[in-house]
Amino acid sequence: MHSEYAKRGLASISRSRWNPKPVSVLRHAAKFGLFLAVLTAPAFAQNPSGKFVGSTVCKACHPDVWSSFYKNAHFKSVASEKEKPENTGCEGCHGPGEAHIKAHGGKATIRAFSLLSPKQTAETCLRCHSESLARSNIHRSVHTLNDVGCAQCHSIHKAATPKFLLAKREPELCYGCHTDIRAQFNMPFKHRVNEGFMACSDCHNPHGASSPTWRMAARPHMVKQDVNEEACLKCHFDKRGPFAFEHPPVRVEGCEACHSPHGSTNSRLLARPVVFTMCLECHNGAGTFGRTGTGVPRLSRAHNMTDPRYQNCTNCHVRIHGSNADPLFLR
Ligand code: HEC
Ligand code: HEC
Ligand code: HEC
Ligand code: HEC
Ligand code: HEC
Ligand code: HEC
Ligand code: HEC
Ligand code: HEC
Ligand code: HEC
Ligand code: HEC
Repeated sequence: MHSEYAKRGLASISRSRWNPKPVSVLRHAAKFGLFLAVLTAPAFAQNPSGKFVGSTVCKACHPDVWSSFYKNAHFKSVASEKEKPENTGCEGCHGPGEAHIKAHGGKATIRAFSLLSPKQTAETCLRCHSESLARSNIHRSVHTLNDVGCAQCHSIHKAATPKFLLAKREPELCYGCHTDIRAQFNMPFKHRVNEGFMACSDCHNPHGASSPTWRMAARPHMVKQDVNEEACLKCHFDKRGPFAFEHPPVRVEGCEACHSPHGSTNSRLLARPVVFTMCLECHNGAGTFGRTGTGVPRLSRAHNMTDPRYQNCTNCHVRIHGSNADPLFLR
């Protein structure tokens, strides 16, 4: 009864608010005022003016934030006592505090991230964090281009991980938005990310990756590269080579040509259930110039594809990632 009444009351209020009677000059004026406020408020919040007052004064009114700050990597600037005021403590990120203190608080008197867009937040952080190689591609990263900002992955004051100040632990952090990827790491053959043996960021750079020298300089899916090589080689270093006899797709197309990197229903994370179908996607003699029409050798006659013995290519071509002994990868 009571709630029914409350609901109806609310409905009538919102109707009168949002469907008001026709146009009046006053309403336009009010709208314009709002427009001005929207235009000016965030700019003010982003760049507060006035003097730097140090971090200690913040303690009185923000004891919760203050009391855990000594654990934060950003506390170093306070502890060292060597940084310039604009790079020290709270004001390194929130800007000069004078106006805020004089006004006894308020969101418009200081740089309040709750009022900033992801891009404005990034500008604040990148003032100090832009040199690092890991983030040199931050502006063109798929995340930045899709308005995923620093504060969606990092939490300065309520971090779930003391290291890297992540808002949540990996992989939950990433699954928060990439729900469809979880299933791939639950497949019968997979990298053990859900079990905590490795992280998404072992293979991806969430800040964006640079043009690699492998894979024809394509830069898909923010796959990380260390020293210009595929992320996979950090752990699978036996596949690095250089080999006297290389199998070109390993370097040119990359490991993804044959493997599903997250998980697969096929053993060895293979992209196809039967090995030879994968090989024949390239070694099929397609093209108009005979045997090497596409630059890929066709199988010799001896390879009788109706003979099951020949279907398991890697039974004989055992060094499929490259060999130092045999051009046909037979040993
Ligand atoms: C490295 C940058 C950085 C530093 C240094 C920093 N803050 Fe923040 N602060 C933020 C960001 C970003 C937010 C937005 C919420 C978030 O992501 O945690 C925030 C939010 C806040 C809030 C809003 C309430 C809340 O908990 O979300 C207050 C208050 C605040 N900071 C006060 C302080 C004080 C006081 C200090 C010094 C002890 C400080 N900040 C140091 C970046 C910083
Ligand atoms: C006299 C008390 C007082 C002091 C001192 C003070 N603040 Fe505040 N602060 C407030 C109040 C009140 C608010 C408004 C909270 C609100 O509107 O939700 C606020 C809001 C903020 C916000 C905006 C939070 C948001 O929602 O995004 C930030 C950031 C902040 N303060 C940082 C600081 C920093 C940094 C210092 C030290 C330089 C400081 N404050 C000192 C009282 C104070
Ligand atoms: C005034 C300069 C400055 C600003 C602005 C700044 N940082 Fe930092 N940040 C630092 C310094 C200095 C460190 C410590 C580096 C070290 O440990 O050697 C750091 C460390 C970090 C770390 C790494 C902690 C670790 O465990 O390695 C993260 C994550 C981080 N900052 C995120 C941010 C984010 C997000 C913002 C914007 C909300 C931001 N920073 C703004 C100076 C800054
Ligand atoms: C999509 C999530 C995501 C976004 C967006 C993001 N980060 Fe990170 N960041 C991470 C993760 C995960 C790590 C730790 C793993 C790693 O890269 O090794 C990290 C690590 C860091 C580190 C510490 C390690 C290092 O490379 O020095 C800093 C500093 C940092 N981020 C700053 C930023 C800043 C500044 C922004 C915004 C311009 C930002 N991050 C945006 C997820 C993110
Ligand atoms: C073993 C390395 C590795 C790990 C660990 C990894 N990825 Fe990937 N991921 C890749 C590679 C390589 C690609 C590109 C695949 C391609 O080009 O076919 C990719 C592609 C993607 C894509 C784009 C393609 C798609 O399927 O939508 C997303 C999104 C993604 N990964 C998210 C994640 C998340 C989230 C995690 C952690 C839960 C994660 N990845 C862990 C290697 C990895
Ligand atoms: C706040 C939401 C959010 C979080 C958190 C997040 N992402 Fe993303 N991510 C996106 C959006 C949006 C895109 C761009 C649209 C798309 O391709 O799905 C994207 C794109 C990607 C891509 C490229 C996909 C492609 O096809 O090119 C990869 C890889 C990726 N994210 C990995 C990660 C990893 C790893 C983490 C955790 C460290 C993470 N993301 C955390 C929202 C998020
Ligand atoms: C952080 C280290 C690490 C990285 C990076 C990594 N892997 Fe792995 N990989 C492993 C480990 C450890 C295993 C063993 C299986 C397990 O964890 O259960 C494995 C297993 C595999 C297997 C199956 C091997 C078997 O015997 O069944 C393949 C194939 C594979 N990885 C390919 C890749 C590819 C392709 C990439 C890059 C996209 C990659 N790995 C990146 C650590 C890594
Ligand atoms: C031309 C296709 C192809 C490419 C490209 C390829 N692989 Fe493989 N890989 C295979 C096949 C087929 C197997 C299974 C071999 C077997 O069953 O004996 C395999 C097996 C593996 C294994 C498990 C067995 C072993 O040899 O350790 C790992 C790990 C692996 N590959 C990693 C990689 C990495 C890392 C890359 C990229 C540098 C890569 N692969 C590129 C076809 C390929
Ligand atoms: C993405 C395309 C691609 C895939 C998939 C592929 N290959 Fe290759 N393969 C090549 C290319 C290109 C060459 C080098 C041709 C040259 O050197 O002229 C090559 C060379 C070879 C050679 C040496 C032949 C010679 O005459 O030098 C063998 C053997 C071979 N591949 C076997 C396999 C097997 C077995 C598989 C499946 C596990 C496979 N390949 C999958 C593209 C591919
Ligand atoms: C029983 C062992 C065996 C199996 C299984 C096998 N091969 Fe071979 N393959 C050889 C031998 C031996 C040679 C070299 C002699 C020849 O060309 O017949 C060779 C040669 C090749 C060549 C080079 C041909 C040329 O003319 O340069 C390619 C490409 C090749 N194999 C691909 C494959 C593929 C793809 C499969 C799986 C469908 C496969 N092989 C299965 C033994 C095998």
